[in-house]
Amino acid sequence: MSDIILLGPPGAGKGTQARRLVEERGLVQLSTGDMLREARSSGTEMGRRVAEVMDRGNLVTDDIVIGLIEERLAASKAAGFIFDGFPRTLAQADALGALLKRAGRHLDAVIEMRVDDEALVRRITGRFTCGNCGEVYHDLTRPTARPGICDACGSTDLRRRADDNEESLRTRLLEYYKNTAPLIGYYYALGKLRPVDGLDGVDAVAAAIAAILDAPPAAGKGPLDATAETH
Ligand code: AP5
Repeated sequence: MSDIILLGPPGAGKGTQARRLVEERGLVQLSTGDMLREARSSGTEMGRRVAEVMDRGNLVTDDIVIGLIEERLAASKAAGFIFDGFPRTLAQADALGALLKRAGRHLDAVIEMRVDDEALVRRITGRFTCGNCGEVYHDLTRPTARPGICDACGSTDLRRRADDNEESLRTRLLEYYKNTAPLIGYYYALGKLRPVDGLDGVDAVAAAIAAILDAPPAAGKGPLDATAETH
């Protein structure tokens, strides 16, 4: 069973591409951001603490997010998972490697979505989503066909995220460069890293990802072949 990771800064387009991969390839999306947003609306003490951390733009602790992924992996026998927004730290990456190995699964590719910071600010500050079906829109680049109505499901419950403002985004970017960007080197060393130009349009990015997923497995496994076998 083969899985992929979508790796990139906030607003790189991970959620947008994950939804397409679910529709087009029947993969199962595991978004820790979505799971944490569910947890925050649970009304529990844990949910309240998670909400505070997310709204500031900081990372939720490793034990919480690893626990969420562990539960989902144990509950599903999907042919392929898309990890969207996970892992985000080296500890999470190590934990994922161990979980996949224990489940007899195989990490196919880590798609690194490259987008510059200016584009990220434009994307994040213009984003809104459907509260009913999760479809992702943008004020300028992907507005709904009829104002205030979701194209996909007809709902009028269109929302903006509490952390989609310039101040939280600054913190989210700092967290990304400090904790998540080191994963680029980590997965490169394992021979899994596949960069795509995330500045391209949504269709072009989807085509680049499809080409990676449809390519025959590379002959060499990467600079650290022996280690790659364990992930
Ligand atoms: P999360 O929900 O994962 O947010 P994120 O990583 O900041 O990513 P986003 O959802 O903001 O962006 P995206 O890359 O999915 O972009 P999208 O497709 O929507 O995490 C939120 C918070 O939860 C974190 O800050 C943290 O607190 C916590 N958290 C989550 N996971 C965690 C973990 N593992 N460990 C610890 N804490 C964790 O696109 C953005 C906009 O751009 C949209 O409007 C879209 O229409 C537009 N767009 C997309 N693609 C294109 C394109 N190619 N061209 C033009 N516009 C585009």
